[in-house]
Amino acid sequence: MEIKVKQGSLTDVSCDVLVINLFEGVKNPGGGTGAVDKALNGLISSYVIEKEGFKGKLNEMYVLPTHGKIPADKVLIAGLGKPGDFNPNKIREVSSKVIKKAKSLKAKTICTILHGAGSAGLEDENCARMLAEGAIIGNYSFDKYKTKKDEDKEKEIRSLEIIEIDASKPGNINKGIETGKIIAQGVNFARNLVNEPACTATPSFLARAALSIEGIECKILEREETEKMGMGLYTAVGKGSAEPPKFIHMKYLPPAKARKKIAIIGKGITFDSGGLDLKPPASMRMMKEDMSGSAAVLGIMQAVSRLKPGIEIHGIIAACENMPGSRAYRPGDVLKSMNGKTVEVDNTDAEGRLTLADAIHYAVLQDVDEIIDIATLTGACMVALGSLAAGIMGNNDDLPDDLIESAEKGGERFWQLPLYEEHKEELKSDIADLKNCGSRYGGALTAGTFLKEFAGNKKWAHIDIAGTAWIDKELKELAKGPTGSGVRAILNYILAGT
Ligand code: BES
Ligand code: MG
Ligand code: ZN
Repeated sequence: MEIKVKQGSLTDVSCDVLVINLFEGVKNPGGGTGAVDKALNGLISSYVIEKEGFKGKLNEMYVLPTHGKIPADKVLIAGLGKPGDFNPNKIREVSSKVIKKAKSLKAKTICTILHGAGSAGLEDENCARMLAEGAIIGNYSFDKYKTKKDEDKEKEIRSLEIIEIDASKPGNINKGIETGKIIAQGVNFARNLVNEPACTATPSFLARAALSIEGIECKILEREETEKMGMGLYTAVGKGSAEPPKFIHMKYLPPAKARKKIAIIGKGITFDSGGLDLKPPASMRMMKEDMSGSAAVLGIMQAVSRLKPGIEIHGIIAACENMPGSRAYRPGDVLKSMNGKTVEVDNTDAEGRLTLADAIHYAVLQDVDEIIDIATLTGACMVALGSLAAGIMGNNDDLPDDLIESAEKGGERFWQLPLYEEHKEELKSDIADLKNCGSRYGGALTAGTFLKEFAGNKKWAHIDIAGTAWIDKELKELAKGPTGSGVRAILNYILAGT
């Protein structure tokens, strides 16, 4: 689907579907919608609104044929909800729903009004960005393993054009489209990786995905090297699998001197069987999603290589598979981390924090200013927050606060959870410096506390996306399945600091 801006009038453009909008409660629409209403002899105000009772509630849709009164074949009216509730996130949501509706109408060419422009002080550029983000996120499907594709092919949308009458505006609208496109493609890149089954999305597959991103440096460390470097926690986790682990280090350097340096680390367990502490079948079923953090990092790095922010960004993934093979690490094993701390393995299913601990220390050695890790880390976080918000923790409040704000702007939600000194008590081992699990309660917090031990004195934040990485039913602009959780939030954080 190609997205572009076109200067002209809504009543002059020819396309399969022309998208206009209506705020809730408006009886006599103005602007572009009003112009279309007039061209249709008042059909929208006197029939759709008056007789059919179309209210303009958020995501409410109405399709009507134009019978040749304007060149567009059909008009799709999208409800924007109450003007007082409106914000840029609503544009993204409506835009996604519009694309799905247009697909169901078998539309190939769509022309649309720029939702939100001119209302509530929203800038055209941002409105266009949200519209593009929503359209691309809404247009996503993963059908590469379906053998019957003909019907779907028919539903492919060729073009989406934003129609703007004012000749001075297309420049800004174009900028917004470009940014939105890059961000949404980052989200979809992550969703594709998570949708891949674990038999395909191996650590080597993630390494190849990283190497395929143009415009960044990428280094892959093999098992022997990470072992030699002292990453005893990470290396141990991958030992029970026949799949070779891959430690992935991507680096983006800005064109001019970097304003700051940040590291983004993603949990990259390509399948989490639990290891020797094997998961029961129901808990294991979806564990191909345990690389969602790394998928987010790859999506972010792809977008960063195109957005070219003024910040140096390291994308780090300690990828491996957690399996119960004959060389698997065992409960009770004592491992040595790269920062020197020893860890007693209490449970081989608490593997993510082990891989992340060495990755976080590796990031500390890269001389970065800030470290952000993103991980499907604990079932406890999912129990606490469900799928509507990811948990965020940190060894300071600034970074979590900024990330919470950036998430909100991206249409995501982060909710801060506390890390208290007392949590460390739970991680005391009788024979080593730490053990990898605490008690049954507050599992997201003991996991966060474990990671904190490896961040040294760097500014660090940890995002637990166990509940948000995958959704079982449609949610706003997202279809069920992988969500690309964290991609938009972290990209907004990066763009805000540029
Ligand atoms: N990958 C899981 C966490 C998870 C659960 C992610 C559900 C996505 C959905 C993680 O490795 C894990 O197994 N955590 C254990 C930790 C426990 C053994 C301390 C958990 O949450 O039960
Ligand atoms: Mg586990
Ligand atoms: Zn896991």
